Amino acid sequence: MKKRSEPALPTELGRHIIIDTDPSPDDAVAFLVALASPAELNVLAITTVAGNVPIELTSKNARKALELAACADVPVYAGAAAPLVRPLVTAEHVHGRTGFDGYDLPEPIMPLQSAFAPEAIVDMVMSKPPGEVTLCCLAPLTNIALALAKEPRLAARLKEIVLMGGSFAEGGNITPAAEFNIYVDPEAAARVFNCGAPITMIPLDCTHQARTTTQRLEKLRRLDTPLAEAFYHLLKFNKIFDEQKYGWEGGPLHDATVIAYLLAPELFAGRQVNVQIECASSLTLGMTVVDWWSVTGRPANVKVLNQINASGYFDLVIERLSRFPLSDAADG
Ligand code: RIB
Ligand code: CA
Repeated sequence: MKKRSEPALPTELGRHIIIDTDPSPDDAVAFLVALASPAELNVLAITTVAGNVPIELTSKNARKALELAACADVPVYAGAAAPLVRPLVTAEHVHGRTGFDGYDLPEPIMPLQSAFAPEAIVDMVMSKPPGEVTLCCLAPLTNIALALAKEPRLAARLKEIVLMGGSFAEGGNITPAAEFNIYVDPEAAARVFNCGAPITMIPLDCTHQARTTTQRLEKLRRLDTPLAEAFYHLLKFNKIFDEQKYGWEGGPLHDATVIAYLLAPELFAGRQVNVQIECASSLTLGMTVVDWWSVTGRPANVKVLNQINASGYFDLVIERLSRFPLSDAADG
C-alpha cells in the first residue's frame, strides 16, 4: 500500500484537515477530492458519525470509498451513534438503505481505528501547534460538540471549522425550516456555532446551485476509471430524490463544496454575520437563523457563503477525481 507522503504544510493555502462525515456519495467525493490534493491539504483522519444512515453504515461507506481509491492508509475513527439528546433521524429516503445505493462496492477490509472519534479529534488537534488544524464537517455535528465538551481548549486551538449545513433564504430540505445536518442534532450545532472558533458555513443556498447535471456526470464517466464509473452510478442514484422533489436536472453535490472552498475560495462569496440555531420550536427546530442584515446586534460568529461558481466547482471536482489512482507524482 503506497504511504502518502506528508506535504510541507502549512503553506498559504495548505492545511492539516480532519473530515467528519456521514458518507453518502457527496461526502465521499469531498474526502476523495481532499486526498487528491496533497500539495494543499493533509488529511489527518476521517471521522464518521450517524447521519444519512446509522454509524455502522457510515463507517463502512467511508472505508469502501477509501479502498476504491487505494487510500486504505487513511485512518478512520467511528464516532457518535446518536445525537446528543434526540433520537437519530436518517435519510435512507434520499440515499437508499445503505447510504451508498446505486453501485455495489466490496465490503471493506481496512479496520476502523480503536479510538472514539471525538477523542481522536481532540488528540490530533491538541498535538499540533495552535491554528494548524481545520475541521471539515459534512454531517450532523455531534462528534464536534462532544470533542468541544471533552477539551475546552479545542476551539481556540483550531484554525477554522468549515461546515456544509444550514440554510438562509433557501428554506430547509428535511423540514420547511431546517437543513438535514443541523436538524439531526441542533443542540450540537448550537454548541459548535457558539464555540468561538472561526466558522465558515456552506448552506443549501450555495449547494443547491451546484447540481450533478447529466452533462457533468457524463464528463465524470469519461474519466474512464473504476473510481469514476462507481461514482457516476452512485451520484446518478443519489440525484433521483432531489430531481423528483425539486424538478431539477441533477442533485446538489453538497459536501464537496467544503473541500472546494479550501482549495479555491475564489469560487465562493458570502458575508460574516450572526447565526444562531433554533433548539426549542417544534415548528422550526434546527433552523439556522441567519442575521444577514445585522439587525440583532449579535456577534458575527459565522462566514455564510451563499454564492458559488458552480461550473468552476465541478471543473475542480472532476479534475481532482481524474488524479485517481494517485501516483507519487500527485504528491505535488
Ligand atoms: O443537507 C445535506 C447534507 O445532508 C449533506 O451533508 C448530505 O451528505 C447529508 O448528510
Ligand atoms: Ca453528509
